[in-house]
Amino acid sequence: MGPRYDVVTIFPDMITGALGYGVVSRALEAGRVSVQTWNPRDYTSDRHASVDDRPYGGGPGMVMRYEPLAGAVRAAREARADRAEVVYLSPQGERFDAAMAEKWAGGPGAILVCGRYEGVDERFIEACVDREVSIGDYVLSGGEPAALAMMDAVFRFVPGVLGHEDSAGEDSFAGGLLDCPHYTRPEEVEDRRVPEVLLSGDHAAIRRWRRAESKRRTRERREDLL
Ligand code: ADE
Repeated sequence: MGPRYDVVTIFPDMITGALGYGVVSRALEAGRVSVQTWNPRDYTSDRHASVDDRPYGGGPGMVMRYEPLAGAVRAAREARADRAEVVYLSPQGERFDAAMAEKWAGGPGAILVCGRYEGVDERFIEACVDREVSIGDYVLSGGEPAALAMMDAVFRFVPGVLGHEDSAGEDSFAGGLLDCPHYTRPEEVEDRRVPEVLLSGDHAAIRRWRRAESKRRTRERREDLL
């Protein structure tokens, strides 16, 4: 059994909907990975089932309340046999990358907490969160797209998820380099021809060309990776 992710979100349909496509959908169906959602709204005790409230000290926006988040995390934890890490998605977290995705693919998974509004009550982070993770230096309106991006990147490293056993290993970043260009039929389209070497059948030459293209692109576009 591959990794299991429990996603705490007030928009569970965002998660389940986006997981219904392509290789990720097939991996879920085959039981290679699993995802379950937990809605903080189901762990409220007030009449209005409120998950957020105004910030102490004033200011714009709302803050997610401690109780519904803690309740959802507790329920997710009780549904798991292991003691999975609780990860809060936020721009304040450590940066997610391919190395982290590959490492997590070999692990048990995690409880991913998606925030909304201006943030979550800091006491929830202190009491219930093991680590904060960011997918990049920009602010999303919620953690859900970040959780989806992370799970997708992790699942690609789980054995059997991609058709070709080694496809993830040939992607961008696998060897610390960007991906090489790809072509399919026809050989010529609007005066643009497929590079001759790819039609040569010389597999060693093709490997060399692809490697050289990866290096060239990385130098041109992302020198910081070299
Ligand atoms: N939530 C809002 N912005 C985010 C980001 N950049 N990474 C992870 N979670 C987020």
